[in-house]
Amino acid sequence: MEKILIVDDDPEILNVIADILREAGYEVDKAEDGRKAIRCVEDDFYDLVITDLNLPQVDGMKVLQYVVDQSPETMCVILTGYGTIKGSVEAIKMGAFDYITKPVKSDEILIVVEKALKFRQLERENTLLKQQLRKKYRFENFVGDSGPIQKVFELIERVADTDSTVLITGESGTGKELIAKAIHYNSHRQDNPMVVINCGAIPEELLESELFGHEKGAFTGAHKMRVGRFELANGGTIFLDEIGDMSPNLQVKLLRVLQEQKFERVGGTRTLEIDVRILAATNKNLISAVNRGRFRQDLFYRLNVIPIRVPPLRHRKPDIPLLLDFFIKKFNKQNRKRITGFSQEGLDCLMEYRWPGNVRELENLVERLIILSNGDQIELEDVPDSIKGKPSNVESIEVKIPKDGIVFDQAVEEYEKKLILQALAETNWVKTKAAKLLNINRTTLIEKMKKKNLCKPAAAS
Ligand SMILES: Nc1ncnc2c1ncn2[C@@H]1O[C@H](COP(=O)(O)OP(=O)(O)OP(=O)(O)O)[C@@H](O)[C@H]1O
Ligand SMILES: [Mg+2]
Repeated sequence: MEKILIVDDDPEILNVIADILREAGYEVDKAEDGRKAIRCVEDDFYDLVITDLNLPQVDGMKVLQYVVDQSPETMCVILTGYGTIKGSVEAIKMGAFDYITKPVKSDEILIVVEKALKFRQLERENTLLKQQLRKKYRFENFVGDSGPIQKVFELIERVADTDSTVLITGESGTGKELIAKAIHYNSHRQDNPMVVINCGAIPEELLESELFGHEKGAFTGAHKMRVGRFELANGGTIFLDEIGDMSPNLQVKLLRVLQEQKFERVGGTRTLEIDVRILAATNKNLISAVNRGRFRQDLFYRLNVIPIRVPPLRHRKPDIPLLLDFFIKKFNKQNRKRITGFSQEGLDCLMEYRWPGNVRELENLVERLIILSNGDQIELEDVPDSIKGKPSNVESIEVKIPKDGIVFDQAVEEYEKKLILQALAETNWVKTKAAKLLNINRTTLIEKMKKKNLCKPAAAS
């Protein structure tokens, strides 16, 4: 039963209205003055408050204001005597739904009350629809209904529209960037920029000026002032990808931005203040990096306010068929094909596979299979050997450590360079294709190429 509070200093009017409303099936409370009215609203929930404007103690406007602020789900209707129309106009501006003139007529009251309650119901339904719509939009490109990924969705929903720093961790290709985007585009910052920076792929010397900008003449080659990515992201979100690769020197500077939202451009003295929400991601284990002294503990705590751990695909197998379906549709459309799906054996094989490159690997595989396939269905034979449990070609690449040892980081760098060059050579230097072959992000590839100074040799063009 809907509950209505009537506020008027005239007991007779109170009784008349209460009788009309009770007769019509509403539950009714009465208050003779503003103070009591406010107490009622404080203690109880009313669907509707009908109030006179001239009240002893606390006037009707104050009551209205209180209801609008403290109980926004409650509708308000004003009772006005002759000559107080001006006050009613004010009241409606303030948020009252309508007014009823005194002396009150039974049918007029009932019509206004019903109209107010109906309006509120429509408004509620509308909000609900909008929420559902937003939810749909929110996860439209985000596939998965396994338990672990549902937990991630829930967390995203809860933190998106806050300013909290979020640290997204998970293996390569699990969807960390997708999650960062979902957070930004579902926050109040959605109309401001989301700036992405890959801390791992930019040479250390350049990263500082990339992040904070630099003043003219800050270093050789700084011919002009340059705005950094933090400034570009003002009002929006900055996504610090591969945060685990940030140098200790920059970690200190980042810590200050996190603590104070302040920084200076490289070579500058003026302190700039910004309003930026920070999201960070890494596929490294930051806790062990902290233990090994590679990552500052204080920075870790600052970043790890809300941790989101994205489970690897092999821990959420029920998502595999859904993802396959999603990407089959996507690449069918792109390639004007009509592949219906996988044969049972094909699917079984993909369900068994370990997916070290996670969703990105799966996405790339589906794209390749769709392009290459001629039939309606993808068969087990179409699936590459490496996925069918045979040793992958990477594992079979021989590595030999010379007797006098190696410099580990340098060797890894060198190996990485070789893989990148080979992928580029095999794809005729089409970066999108090379990135797919390596199962890495295209921007990651480009930034790694920049870092390693890799350019297309003249002969290859
Ligand atoms: N749940 C998902 N639903 C649909 N697509 C997904 C999902 N998760 C990831 N993807 C897709 O997989 C690819 C890789 O995702 P993303 O770039 O977000 O991964 P990442 O964790 O940032 O990887 P890396 O550590 O290599 O940077 C993207 O094309 C993304 O759209
Ligand atoms: Mg990423």
